[in-house]
Amino acid sequence: MAALIHTASSVLRYRGGAGQWAWAIHRAAGLGVLAFLLLHIFDIFLAAFGPHLFNDLLFLYKGWFARVLETLLLFGLLYHALNGLRLILMDFFPIVASRKITRNFIYIQLGVFLLLFIPAGFVMLYSLPADQFGQNAAFSILITLGIIALPAVIVALFSLTPVNRSIQLDTDSGVGNYQDGFDRIVASRSHRVMNRVELNIWLFLRISGLLLIVLALGHFFLMHFIYGVENMDFNFIIERWMDPHLGLFWRGYDLALLFFALVHGMFGLRYSIEDYVHNHGLKMALLGLAVLVEIAMLAMGAFVIFSFNYTT
Ligand code: HEM
Ligand code: HEM
Repeated sequence: MAALIHTASSVLRYRGGAGQWAWAIHRAAGLGVLAFLLLHIFDIFLAAFGPHLFNDLLFLYKGWFARVLETLLLFGLLYHALNGLRLILMDFFPIVASRKITRNFIYIQLGVFLLLFIPAGFVMLYSLPADQFGQNAAFSILITLGIIALPAVIVALFSLTPVNRSIQLDTDSGVGNYQDGFDRIVASRSHRVMNRVELNIWLFLRISGLLLIVLALGHFFLMHFIYGVENMDFNFIIERWMDPHLGLFWRGYDLALLFFALVHGMFGLRYSIEDYVHNHGLKMALLGLAVLVEIAMLAMGAFVIFSFNYTT
């Protein structure tokens, strides 16, 4: 806990510039999407028990608050995906990791992020004020831009924060970007000798990350922009999973998404547990709990995909 507070205050105090913020937002976004995923697997699991419970809980997805949270979810998923892609390119094409190219890459990533997030967020939120307060175009635009601007401005401002020249950055040697308190954490990570298991986890995070760009972003895009969250109910799942032609495909797609998103997210969570929890007993207990939750969630998610057998 003390390490977590120290890291948070270091991130706020130290002006490490683009790399530092890219890393901090990447971690927060990954953990946020993971929290959503755990809840989401649970709510889809309820579909295994018929329409009543599932339909009763759908209000969770449809209120104004849920719509703002969904925009935040898109923010986290899109930012994490683009930043993850940049990290993967840096890892496999060392030239990209040189200081000059890395900085430019962060700005390209930021540009692509804003280009995709601002219009998508606008489409997601535009009708929200009208639903709550009645038609008023100017008011709708103002509220929508306000909500979108919040995360977009945070990312843009911090990514463009100038580097404090009095503190030497050492990105080229791979020591880590941040010289303040938490550089210890980053340095110990990059100097850690990777055993075979550690290397496989590292590789898995990258391969699953690439797959999730299609699986997770594709799923979000379909659910939100093609089908529409307002059309979602028990019958919607029947139409997808019981379809005589595409049913098997969608079940396979969801199973792949379940496996790669959950295992990727839980391996990611392990980095945070290892970085912030220094008491050995507590660390082992948390890692054990994470494995139990992961197994339970995989079983619940797979159970509903394999056992679902309802018709309209
Ligand atoms: C959409 C495509 C995605 C890509 C390209 C991607 C990429 C990556 C990469 C490359 C890493 C490793 C960073 C490192 O080694 O320090 C990572 C870490 C992580 N990912 Fe993802 N990811 C994606 C989706 C997801 C999803 C859906 C979740 C949540 C379920 C998630 C949660 C995490 C977490 C918690 C970490 C650990 C971050 C840290 O503590 O440094 N990612 N991701
Ligand atoms: C607005 C956002 C989202 C909506 C409305 C939504 C909706 C749904 C629905 C209706 C299903 C049922 C199966 C189907 O029809 O294919 C489902 C399944 C699933 N979704 Fe999402 N989804 C959203 C975002 C996400 C995100 C961001 C992820 C991953 C990080 C995700 C991961 C999954 C998984 C793994 C399943 C299968 C669950 C299981 O086997 O229990 N969803 N989603």
